[in-house]
Amino acid sequence: MDSSSSEMEHGNLPQPISGLDHRLHVAIIMDGNGRWAKKRGLPRIAGHRAGAHAVRRVTDAARELGIGTLTVFAFSSDNWQRPVTEVSALMRLFHRYLRWEMGRCLKDGVRLSVIGRRDRLPQWLVKEIEHSEEVTRHEKRLHLRVALDYSSRDSIVAAARQAQHMKDEGFDIDRDSFQSLLSALNRDQVKDVDLLIRTSGELRLSDFMLWECAYAELYFTSVLWPDFKKEHLSEALDEYSRRDRRYGAVKETALAAAAETQAETAEVLGD
Ligand code: FPP
Repeated sequence: MDSSSSEMEHGNLPQPISGLDHRLHVAIIMDGNGRWAKKRGLPRIAGHRAGAHAVRRVTDAARELGIGTLTVFAFSSDNWQRPVTEVSALMRLFHRYLRWEMGRCLKDGVRLSVIGRRDRLPQWLVKEIEHSEEVTRHEKRLHLRVALDYSSRDSIVAAARQAQHMKDEGFDIDRDSFQSLLSALNRDQVKDVDLLIRTSGELRLSDFMLWECAYAELYFTSVLWPDFKKEHLSEALDEYSRRDRRYGAVKETALAAAAETQAETAEVLGD
């Protein structure tokens, strides 16, 4: 939600998406850190620390499995309502994570970027984010996006405000141009989410990439985030590969099935 980005200031519609990475885009709502810690009699922050290790593990796995983009939900705009001690411990953890991961990202070809608002994050964290993004910007093997102070509804409202402005200037607003606006506000042009995973058994979207997940396949697992490993990601991908994505249309398989049903019906009816 960087309303001061240059595209916005100059009143131009963001450029159409070009050079888009067409490999799989997987998004994860990382849930269950608190419960993981509680089960072990540990403070919640110990769960978040274990969650950070899981992010590292799953990033490695995503790279090995050939995923193009991995977006992880690390801190929602509603998470500010958590106790101050937990919030500040999380901010320090994000900072330390970025420091830790820089070298690995460069070695492994991982581009790191952060989506969400930055104006409410501590300056020392914003600086580290900007540094990580700058240093890893040419890496292409995997694009790891961390959502921090992110709210999908807020992003959509911000894009709608920009759209109003564009419309006043005579630009046509349609799905594609609106999507470009939304992406630009999150500083990235990436394809829609193909597979959305949520851990810990909760069955909600929690204001995470609502527009981008319009046709995402949803996968819920009871595994708590700190326990999530490569095998779990592989299971989710296996399940994904068995889904028939039709985007509201009818595919040959569905047509064949429909024809078969029609023939069976005709036979039963003796037509
Ligand atoms: C949800 O679990 C998790 C969070 C709000 C924080 C996510 C943070 C991490 C995974 C750790 C670090 C991430 C990075 C990118 C370094 P919860 O606390 O709501 O768990 P609960 O529902 O069991 O209480």
